[in-house]
Amino acid sequence: MSFDRSIKIAPSILSADFANFGQEIQAIEAQGADWVHIDVMDGHFVPNLTFGPMAVKAFRPHVKTVMDVHLMIAPVDPYIDAYADAGADVLTAHIEAGPHIHRTLQAIRAAGMKAGVALNPGTPAEAVAHLLDLTDLICVMTVNPGFGGQKFIDMTSKIRSLHSMIGDRPVHIEIDGGVDPSTAPLVAEAGADVLVAGSAVFKGGSVNDPDVYGANIRNIRDAANGVWA
Ligand code: DX5
Ligand code: ZN
Repeated sequence: MSFDRSIKIAPSILSADFANFGQEIQAIEAQGADWVHIDVMDGHFVPNLTFGPMAVKAFRPHVKTVMDVHLMIAPVDPYIDAYADAGADVLTAHIEAGPHIHRTLQAIRAAGMKAGVALNPGTPAEAVAHLLDLTDLICVMTVNPGFGGQKFIDMTSKIRSLHSMIGDRPVHIEIDGGVDPSTAPLVAEAGADVLVAGSAVFKGGSVNDPDVYGANIRNIRDAANGVWA
């Protein structure tokens, strides 16, 4: 199967109802989510705390698409096997989270997952120059990680650099933070294919009113694809 570079919308359940993850995941998938993005925070690498491998394992049976786990934790390596056991399809580690990202990416693949590397806004594209053949996804943070609902930071020149560095390698470019119908076209045009969105997907909806999720997802996708309603 050829590598899929079409736009994929990955709602972040950081903006879901924390007392109702199973139904929230089912609702966003039924409403057109391509992937499900799960933000793991440790209160140390980032100033916020979410959930760990036991919770992620409990989410797994509800995710029928792709379980995309974004680790905002340090260190990463001691937890790789736990996230493989939890059923992550993609496991993304921050390049800033430790001195041995090369080893970390190898270990993620060796554990049977796709390996992602995330870059904080202050980290240049060149930081991944020697990692391109070890990674399946590069996550460009367009906010400083830790919280949903923050203002988009323009990283389009970094996205363009990464897109040309990647060439024809099968590596996704994912954008995380502040993605909504106004910012999606900028990042899509620069070369991104996976758009994470938390607040812009969940705002105004609920599991009892899931059509709102569907409209929100559609609006982001249409904007990214250049279809202006
Ligand atoms: C930020 C997280 C994001 C976040 C995005 O630390 O990695 O995935 O949930 O949220 P929004 O789309 O609300 O900026
Ligand atoms: Zn994230």
